[in-house]
Amino acid sequence: MTQMQTNVDDIHRQIEQYAVTSKEELEQYRQRFIGRKGVVTELFESLKTVAPEDRRAVGQQLNGLKTRAQERFDEFTQLLDEQPDSSPAPVDLTLPTAPSLTGTQHPLTIVRQRIIQIFERIGFTVADGPEIDSDWYNFGALNFPLNHPARDMQDTFFVQKNGNEASPDDMVLRTHTSNVQIRLMEQQRNADTFRPIRAIMPGRVYRNETISARAHCMFHQVEGIYIDRNVGFKDLKDTLYHFVKEMFEPGTRIRFRPSYFPFTEPSAEIDISCQICGGKGCNICKHSGWVEIAGSGMVDPQVLLNCGIDPEEFTGFAFGMGIERITQLKYRVNDLRLYTENDVRFLNQF
Ligand code: PHE
Repeated sequence: MTQMQTNVDDIHRQIEQYAVTSKEELEQYRQRFIGRKGVVTELFESLKTVAPEDRRAVGQQLNGLKTRAQERFDEFTQLLDEQPDSSPAPVDLTLPTAPSLTGTQHPLTIVRQRIIQIFERIGFTVADGPEIDSDWYNFGALNFPLNHPARDMQDTFFVQKNGNEASPDDMVLRTHTSNVQIRLMEQQRNADTFRPIRAIMPGRVYRNETISARAHCMFHQVEGIYIDRNVGFKDLKDTLYHFVKEMFEPGTRIRFRPSYFPFTEPSAEIDISCQICGGKGCNICKHSGWVEIAGSGMVDPQVLLNCGIDPEEFTGFAFGMGIERITQLKYRVNDLRLYTENDVRFLNQF
């Protein structure tokens, strides 16, 4: 076998064993076997060194080799075309990234935090308590007599009802956070010395109301209580004046209007000049120029007694407000349902 023959066989083998997985490898194949400087071309050039009588036969072999090299090239090309391109798409690392969407605080959270901040700065602590509580903590201890019509002021969701008559053991979704006030006062029972109570209690409350723009069956309150020796109505007024001044627009006016709650005596509702019209009268304030923001009063001696606190020695005031209401006035939210619908078009505004 001639050297030429060996070379041709060898290249045949190489071509058959060759595999390509990318365009770059295909190009390498082309240069090596088909290109003008490739091995097959080289062999054609050395044809002149072959003995003249063999030249014809060798020439045919080389043509066969050349054809086969081209066939393999075509096969490879087709294979690559059928394969999905696995090379990663070119990335431009200098492009700016898509902005990430950050959430915002819920308006009720913002307002609750602000209320807490205002009261903490004047010495109130934050207290918490159960949302499901007994009739006693939600009503009885607060001087709502059993079966008294005052209970109808707050349409109650019952979780457990023991018979048709009201009973201190009935379980309710709390209708106000006053249940936490009772629990705080009760803790004094076992204390050696009385420690003044000065706390606010933010939290969820529930009332059986049809959901509309103006009412919801679940809302949020912040109530507050201050019990000590010599706490008077003046302290109540000072505290709430301070709150209104911190919370609302400069120049907001405040007034106390006599009212009734079973657990306070005397009682007052607190109005502020309408934040929307500045007191001139609009449909938010029903053209009165005033909007109610809170209930308040001096804690009824009977409530102190119910909690084991001597009303001859100690007095105190309490107040309660709805966070939704305050938020409505601050941010002009005209439909209560917006707070719970999770519509980002609403939430993004805060
Ligand atoms: N608990 C009352 C309510 O939810 C509010 C209030 C609290 C009134 C304290 C007076 C004193 O309506």
